[in-house]
Parts: sequence; structure tokens; C-alpha cells
Amino acid sequence: MMGYGYAPSMSEGALKPPLFQTSTFVFRNAEEGKASFELAYGLREKKRDEEMHLIYSRINNPNLEVLEDRLAVWDGAEKALAFASGMAAISTTLMTFLRPGDSFVFSEPVYGGTEFLVHTILPQFGAQGVGFMAEGGETGFREAAKQAAALAAKSGGKVGAIYVETPANPTNGLVDIAVAREISESLKGPAGRPPVIVDNTFLGPLWQKPLSLGADICVTSLTKYVGGHSDLIAGAASGAASWIGQVAVFRTIFGTMTDPHTAWLLLRSLETLKLRMDAAELGARKVAAYLQKHPRVKSVWYLGFLPKDHPDRPLFERQCVSAGSTFSFEIDGGEKDAFAFLDKLQIIKLAVSLGGTETLASHPAAMTHSDVPKQSRERLGITESLIRLSIGVENPDDLIADIEQALET
Ligand SMILES: Cc1ncc(COP(=O)(O)O)c(C=O)c1O
Repeated sequence: MMGYGYAPSMSEGALKPPLFQTSTFVFRNAEEGKASFELAYGLREKKRDEEMHLIYSRINNPNLEVLEDRLAVWDGAEKALAFASGMAAISTTLMTFLRPGDSFVFSEPVYGGTEFLVHTILPQFGAQGVGFMAEGGETGFREAAKQAAALAAKSGGKVGAIYVETPANPTNGLVDIAVAREISESLKGPAGRPPVIVDNTFLGPLWQKPLSLGADICVTSLTKYVGGHSDLIAGAASGAASWIGQVAVFRTIFGTMTDPHTAWLLLRSLETLKLRMDAAELGARKVAAYLQKHPRVKSVWYLGFLPKDHPDRPLFERQCVSAGSTFSFEIDGGEKDAFAFLDKLQIIKLAVSLGGTETLASHPAAMTHSDVPKQSRERLGITESLIRLSIGVENPDDLIADIEQALET
């Protein structure tokens, strides 16, 4: 993360990659301009040893290229793309593979923005989703895939994508990525098979490697752990070049790439990613253990607390490197009690988002998931007493003291 993809000799000896704050790049001659566009628009194959020139910052830019090379290393991917937001990565990726008449399968719950995309926006483009509960295990997943295949057959389309968010926001429900891949293989038709797309925001890129578990495309909100300082919005998609190349075409035309300055900030952040995530994980473990023992706390949905005999325990051990640092807990009471607790916090800030250096608390039912109908929220376990915490890098004892005084009040 310090040197990969950049040499000081490329830029006047600058130790760090400079910020290439430019919209366009000057060609040495017209032939070079022609050759660049032929490659960028896929009009011909790249010749041996031919370099792709810089053209225009919606198509390519040195800050994005170094960033994408480094993100690919973390994800174990052949290729990565940086986007303007996590939602830009998710919507561009889904739109790449879905066409009118297609169906897709998705896990529930998903992040509120993704929920709106799959329930409200994609159907307006003729793509229908079939959801299944993350907590429901393999049976519900396979049943949803069957329903999606029937739906596609009826409307003359195909199952275009399998979309999984694991662990799920905010419940930490798990979905088996290997099963997603098996389902995708079983749906293989003349036009190929649907990509398995995994939202890795909750554990990525340190604590879960979806591509090594069977996913085709890993999408991540870089706004969270990777950015890590709550000062930028960005996203990524990574995977084999054969999948990511298709997404790149849509990103270029939709214009959903990130900008050079954000890419530059992300390069700074990547250098401390592991240090920050390790510190947050340690803090989360301590805070979760404290909450679990508190009489005013009904339950703590921290993955490390999955009992040995829980059906998801083997999946957790196989799929996740760590329990992460974002989890929810239920306060003993309803919305009023949850709000009273949140309003009393002093060190912990009341804000949505996660993965930053500072600890944040939020109320999913009234905030990130407020556009999910009440009945669905209850079905998904997003109750009025649920509070989500994203633990930062502060001293965990300070966080516990803050939680203690708020619970006591
Ligand atoms: C799991 C998950 N996926 C995607 C997103 C969307 O990311 P962004 O806000 O960067 O668009 C979020 C945001 O909170 C999220 O929690």
C-alpha cells in the first residue's frame, strides 16, 4: 500500500503520487489520440507491449489507476474499478448485467439505498428481484433462485444477477457465498451464467475475501473502512477482467467513476487501513463484551457471539476472518428508550455510516432503513429498539464509560 503501482521516477521524484487534478490529457500527436480511443472503446485488441495512454478523467486518470491497482491487491482481484460512491458501484454493476425481462436474486436485509434500488428503481427498467432472508439459510436462497428463474422464463429474460450482502446491514445476517456460486452455475444458459455480486462493505477488504469464496464481483463502499476518516464518499467493484471489463464500459458512459482528489485521499487511507481496522476490531470486541453483560441490553448481534451450535457458526468460521467492528444491539425498551440512550452519548457521535476512525451510533429503523416499510422492517429484525454501533480507534475504555453513563441515564 506504500509503493505498489507507483514509482517516484514517474513524477519528479515525488515520494507520494501527486494529485492529477486534470480533466483531460494532451496527446503527443493525432495518431496517439486515435490509438488511445481505439483501445478505450474496444475497437481493436491491444498490441503486444502497447501502452494505454491517458485520455480523459472519466475514462482514466493516474490517481484512479494506482488506487485501482492497490484495491485489486486487497481483494485478490485481476481488476478493480473505483466509483463515486458505494451506490454508484452497486447500481452501475447491476445495470451492466440486467436487461428488461430479466430477474435477479438478492439477500435481505440489504443497505437501505440498495433496498430502494432493487425494490423501486430496477423494476422501472423491467428487472424484477426475488429476495430471500439472509438468516433463512440455504433453503430460502435456492427457493428464491427457482422463483427468479420462473419469472425470467415468463417474461422472456434470464436470471441476470445474484446479489448478496454478507454480513447484512444492520443485522449481521450471513449468506453462504459458495452456495451463491453453485446456484449461479446451475443457472448457466447459452448466454453464460449470472455473476455472483457480493457487497463486502461490512468486513472488507481485510476480514472477508468474497472472490476467493466463489464471488465473481466484489462491491464495496470505500466511504467506510477504506476511506476510514469519514471525509469522502467512494466505492469499488473488483473481480476477473472478463466481468469487470463489462462494468467499466457502463462506468465510462454513466460517468460514475470517482474523481482524482478522492482517489488521492483513498491512497493516503490505504496506507493505514490494516492498522485502523485492527484497532477497531479490538475495540469492538471489548464494547460488545461489555454490552452483552448489561441488564438494560436485550441482545447483541456481534458475530463473535454466535453460539457454537448456531447454524451460521460454521459459515462464519469458513467465510469471515473476523467479527468486524460494526454490530447492532437491542436496548431493553422501544424507540423512546433507544433515542434517550443515543441523545445521552458524549464521545460516541450520533451519525450514520461506519468504518471511520471515530465511533458512531445510529438507529437503523428511523434512519438508514426508514424507507423500508414497517412490516418488512419487523420481518427483517430492524426493530425500534435496535441501535447500530460502528467502533472506531478510540480507547475502548472511554467508549464503554460513555455507553455506561448513557445506559444509566
Ligand atoms: C452495506 C453497504 N453497502 C453500500 C452502501 C452505500 O455506500 P455509499 O454511501 O458509499 O454509497 C452502504 C452505506 O452505508 C452500506 O452500508
